[in-house]
Amino acid sequence: MKGIILAGGTGTRLHPATLVVSKQLLAVGDKPMLYYPLSTLMLAGIRDILLISTPRDLPQFKRLLGDGSELGLSIGYAEQDAPRGIADAFRVGASHVGDDSVALILGDNIFHGPGFSDVLHGNAQDVEGCVLFGYPVNDPERYGIGETDGRGRLVSLEEKPDRPRSNRAVTGLYFYDNEVVDIAKNLSPSPRGELEITDVNRHYLERDRARLVDLGRGFAWLDTGTPASLLEAGQYVHMLEERQGVRIACIEEVALRMGFIGAQECHRLGERMSGSEYGRYVMEVSEEFAPQGGQTGTAAATDW
Ligand code: G1P
Repeated sequence: MKGIILAGGTGTRLHPATLVVSKQLLAVGDKPMLYYPLSTLMLAGIRDILLISTPRDLPQFKRLLGDGSELGLSIGYAEQDAPRGIADAFRVGASHVGDDSVALILGDNIFHGPGFSDVLHGNAQDVEGCVLFGYPVNDPERYGIGETDGRGRLVSLEEKPDRPRSNRAVTGLYFYDNEVVDIAKNLSPSPRGELEITDVNRHYLERDRARLVDLGRGFAWLDTGTPASLLEAGQYVHMLEERQGVRIACIEEVALRMGFIGAQECHRLGERMSGSEYGRYVMEVSEEFAPQGGQTGTAAATDW
């Protein structure tokens, strides 16, 4: 399965913080926002990833992540020169997807919760149709809203409805089979001039090929769209990290535990940042993972 991270947009609701910096590069807690969606794809076992952003912001993403090889990944980059909508990612990324299935994640979507890695892994296998992830919210009129038959089959879908039929928001993480490339190619722009992801999902729904997996109440799906929600997301991450002594979305640790890189490589990545607690954490994790003799540990079942 291929991965796409869509990290475009102008971040107008966060001006002036985003006047010269991409929203997805702002810090959430102690790391760039982008680390969170990137680690989500990595936890799904995805290593071949395309990052789509604006011509202005792409160079900085490249400086941050390079070709991904240090994390055992392959990261490519593509431009979206105008905000043509989320579904445009499958036009821009058509050759990256090739004849594979694909996971799309929005670059500002932060997920955290018990057993997330199992949820991802389980649903990333042999995707048929589409798999969406639902999360209960108290302001459903702001989101795509889905309804299921109680067994995970999607039966209705509405974009930002005035009168929502459920409080199940469709989050910004989507798994598709290869047909999505053709569906996106044939899509027409909505009244607001964008290729809507909800129209793609409706295509699958009408053919009875859409599932909605519930991320239950123990999960966190965090918003980062406004200064207040960005701060709250940072506080959530900081609070959990301080309390538990573990780190959320530490991409070096995820690469290590997923077996994408070895303990020595991981340690070296930490050494470069040894002036920060984050860097020292990466070094500690690598040392614990490969005690003395350099023996490799096993990926512990961790609540990511
Ligand atoms: C988009 C989608 C919406 C989804 C949301 C998740 O909304 O259109 O269906 O619920 O992302 O973040 P937008 O952020 O473009 O308003």
